[in-house]
Amino acid sequence: MWHPFKRREEVVFDPTNVPTHIGIIMDGNGRWAKKRGLPRSAGHRSGASTFKNIVHDCKDLGVKYLTVYAFSTENWKRPQEEVDGIMNLLRSYLSDAFANPEDGVRVIVIGDREPLADDIKEQIIKLEQESQKSETVMVLNIALNYGGRLEIVHAVRQLAQRVKDGDLQVCEIDEAAISNLIYTANQPDPDLIIRPSGEYRTSNFLLWQGAYSELVFMDVLWPDFTKDDLVRAIAEYQKRNRRFGGV
Ligand code: IPE
Ligand code: IPE
Ligand code: MG
Repeated sequence: MWHPFKRREEVVFDPTNVPTHIGIIMDGNGRWAKKRGLPRSAGHRSGASTFKNIVHDCKDLGVKYLTVYAFSTENWKRPQEEVDGIMNLLRSYLSDAFANPEDGVRVIVIGDREPLADDIKEQIIKLEQESQKSETVMVLNIALNYGGRLEIVHAVRQLAQRVKDGDLQVCEIDEAAISNLIYTANQPDPDLIIRPSGEYRTSNFLLWQGAYSELVFMDVLWPDFTKDDLVRAIAEYQKRNRRFGGV
């Protein structure tokens, strides 16, 4: 049986206090491959398989919303070959998730889809429609061509248009108005954001939603990330004292 005490330090994990919404920055694929003398594409392939396992593990632990950072608005800067490889992995994931859906997982792709290839856009729509047909146990937001700044820009543009059309007063623009227009409208904000790979930054992930998220940074590279690491991150979250500006 799986148990949370396999790693170095003892982990005190309370299964009744699991965060409702977890965000994960799936980082470290390239370094994982480099360490093994493999091409970066091998790291992305391995990271994709970690992703599938962790979706299952989050659902198992009772997480209700999982948002994973798969491709940022800045990741287009990478060599074309790497971007193409990631897009091909995405194609395989989307078709596999459609053919063998993870029970009870509703998939929503967040981010700017416009620049994606037409066949990928179609696969996304098919998967989103199919995955909402059965009862939802967990929502899986896949952040793809996602940038927190661009997300806010899109919300602001819509508000500006409404003002211009005379449907909205400037004084009616408040936090709720923006929250209602971001990609995760109607979802709770993430309680916990996990970044593996040893980097201490959020790289444009969930800027608006993450205002009060607990951040957990971990040394492990994403392809090596296991259910034990997930439990360790949640256990760390459970030790935090969330004050939301209060005392
Ligand atoms: C994350 O791993 C995957 C994407 C950004 C698509 P990286 O490719 O950034 O891996 P490192 O950070 O170079 O190790
Ligand atoms: C963040 O990782 C984006 C994803 C994991 C998809 P990056 O590797 O792109 O971030 P930086 O460049 O280290 O900030
Ligand atoms: Mg990286």
